Amino acid sequence: MESAVLEAYEKLITININGRAYEVPENNTLLRVLQFMSLDLAYSKYCWNGDCRNCAFKYISRKTGNEVEALGCQMRCFPNMVITRPPDGVDLN
Ligand code: FES
Repeated sequence: MESAVLEAYEKLITININGRAYEVPENNTLLRVLQFMSLDLAYSKYCWNGDCRNCAFKYISRKTGNEVEALGCQMRCFPNMVITRPPDGVDLN
């Protein structure tokens, strides 16, 4: 599928944020996924290129099983990704 803000994707994948499952486009960064979810992102808060770190979030590493931090504008979501702390200020309710 094509979108103005999303990378091309063929299917949706399931990710988990704060214990709740969401169906989101594969092949996209967490910030793009949050846009897909129609969350009210404060766009001016984000540089979108890895400099400001305002998009920092925590997830469970597939390799180690440990909670690690990544940048939402750089890290692509993967199937069954478990996000334990979304970027500050992102309201999932
Ligand atoms: S949006 Fe600035 S580092 Fe990700």
